[in-house]
Amino acid sequence: MKLLVTGCAGQLGVELMRQSFVGGAPDALGLARGRLDISDRESVGAALSAAKAEGCTVVVNAAAYTAVDKAETDTAHAFAVNRDGPGNLAEACARLDLPLIHVSTDYVFDGSKAGAYVETDPVAPLGVYGTSKEAGERAVRGRLNQHLILRTSWVYAGHGANFVRTMLRLAGERDELRVVDDQHGIPTSAGDIARAILAIAVKLDAARSESRYIPWGTYHYAATGPTTWCGFARAIVERAAARTGRQPKVTAISTAEFPTPARRPANSVLDCARVEQAFAPPRRPWQDGLSEVLDQLQAPKGSS
Ligand SMILES: NC(=O)c1ccc[n+]([C@@H]2O[C@H](COP(=O)([O-])OP(=O)(O)OC[C@H]3O[C@@H](n4cnc5c(N)ncnc54)[C@H](OP(=O)(O)O)[C@@H]3O)[C@@H](O)[C@H]2O)c1
Repeated sequence: MKLLVTGCAGQLGVELMRQSFVGGAPDALGLARGRLDISDRESVGAALSAAKAEGCTVVVNAAAYTAVDKAETDTAHAFAVNRDGPGNLAEACARLDLPLIHVSTDYVFDGSKAGAYVETDPVAPLGVYGTSKEAGERAVRGRLNQHLILRTSWVYAGHGANFVRTMLRLAGERDELRVVDDQHGIPTSAGDIARAILAIAVKLDAARSESRYIPWGTYHYAATGPTTWCGFARAIVERAAARTGRQPKVTAISTAEFPTPARRPANSVLDCARVEQAFAPPRRPWQDGLSEVLDQLQAPKGSS
């Protein structure tokens, strides 16, 4: 089988492309933003028609506008990519009878719940990014039955702009890192999300070709074990110190001490029971995903 991956140069997109073609995983046709702008409806229609002609049977949308703070002022752009883009993909998928796996975010929630969020909890995004992603979810549901929306959280990888790479850089420059300790979530490596999506896509494709029932809808997927940004930072710094010998102090601060343009949920821990029951994708502790990414980052160049 073969996937079409949009946004293939992003954190998740790169991991999807890296892991496809490997040992029984599906092939993938990747389109980065330069080849397909998902906010351009006509281009999306043409690209998906061509991809179907090339044998793609599942579309995975890894493209998104992910600059959470910048979105507060770059609103139209965020909505064009995060709402209109998935809507365009869903419309073309409906016309071509292709299923769509669309990736969404924990930031659709306001963080006021005491426990982990389940898929049926009410959404109430706090900022433009979350609002635009939530609108994208509705655009997909409204246009296409054959969809899976996977909400995930706190994504990082060995490439791209992310918290792990920022902490590693700061750990090399400073003696103290002050990190927010009152926002709870689950760091999830792009590699783990890619593995899960590929496993789900294989099951989807098999079920479709055998006309078996598929539980379309919205799911949560994250690594296991919640933490805070400060807990995550401490794990990054400790593991890096084992190799560099340099371990700055990590001081817990409150959200109020670190104001940002966009508000973020105090709790965005995702309950993943539903996806486990329906598709049993691989999941593991967030610390394992972190170790893998740190290994990638610290491997001698050319060895990965
Ligand atoms: N990052 C997180 O912490 C996080 C947390 C929860 C959920 N998510 C979700 O996880 C998914 C993957 O995120 P990620 O971390 O891999 O994001 P990412 O690294 O920012 O990658 C997104 C990719 O989409 C591309 N893109 C932007 N606008 C586009 C357009 N109009 N058409 C086509 N491609 C476009 C970007 O290209 P350019 O770089 O050229 O702009 C980039 O390559 C997204 O749906 C995101 O909302 C992310």
